[in-house]
Amino acid sequence: MKHFITTSDYTAEELGRMIDLAIDLKRKKKKRNLSGKNLVLLFFNPSLRTRTSFELAMQQLGGNVVTLNTGGDTWKLETENGVIMDGAGAEHIKDAAKVLGRYGDAVGIRAFAAGEDWEKDKKDPIIAAFARHSGVPVINMESSLYHPNQALADIMTIREKYGSDLKGIPITITWANHPKPLPMAVPNSILLASASFGMDVRFLRPSGYDLDSTILERAQSLSQNAGGKLTVTDNIEEGYKDSRVVYAKSWGSLEFYGRPDEEKKHKKKLGNWIVNSEKMDLTGNAIFMHCLPVRRGVVVSDSVIDSASSAVYDEAENRLHAQKAVLYNLLAN
Ligand code: CP
Repeated sequence: MKHFITTSDYTAEELGRMIDLAIDLKRKKKKRNLSGKNLVLLFFNPSLRTRTSFELAMQQLGGNVVTLNTGGDTWKLETENGVIMDGAGAEHIKDAAKVLGRYGDAVGIRAFAAGEDWEKDKKDPIIAAFARHSGVPVINMESSLYHPNQALADIMTIREKYGSDLKGIPITITWANHPKPLPMAVPNSILLASASFGMDVRFLRPSGYDLDSTILERAQSLSQNAGGKLTVTDNIEEGYKDSRVVYAKSWGSLEFYGRPDEEKKHKKKLGNWIVNSEKMDLTGNAIFMHCLPVRRGVVVSDSVIDSASSAVYDEAENRLHAQKAVLYNLLAN
């Protein structure tokens, strides 16, 4: 069963072929058809871009799409196995997965980390349950660990700017401040994807903001195999110097996981971790990227996000085209 759960389940060549198709679809050089195919989307968390772009992608390919939000559309789902269901959960996730897999030719799931216990969250239990029980391809629309559709659109955007060979192109993936401890799926995914394409990755974060060691180790291995470079640093000048892509994202600290009030105090001294014009001036005329939504004045200054170097709306648009390629890859035939 082919799923789209993380880009690192695919080779750079396979991802590159999906991006080539996405670019051709965007430029209207190719057409693809998924008429008669049905996609079910299940959201455990809110979305603006992911929901809109997936629904439109499926409709524009001629297929059908049904969207459900667990915060009102469905029965409350029990996610623990082997429990006596006399609590709030009215339907087991196993049953929901089996049923939705009978209706849909693929199921898209958005389920963020619960944010209390990293050992539990890092197993991505909801995506894993759907992959195990639905019987159809599962598309990860952002889980605890990964946001592969975002990463595919991100790499597509970088390729549109710099061409298809990204080997050695410097990308700065920088932590940014934020009032809340946000999920790690986006930084994990752009780190893995940029490493897969052999980029010169500078992973820039203050002390306490490392990603899970399994992700960093996998990124190192992907980078080595692709002939790229991966540098982990807390030195802002080193991270930005001569970079061609500045990719900003905030995420929560694993050291303070489940303790947001303590982390908030710790973050008070990190207010300078904002992407501003002064930092962008250190780069080699880099483009600015962020998956959105973004807090202006906290993560990035208006002067950067509103500048000609900002690629954030191209990134958001490319979600639509990249997801058509993902859907076609999973559902054609
Ligand atoms: N970037 C992204 O996934 O946006 P949404 O959370 O709005 O879907």
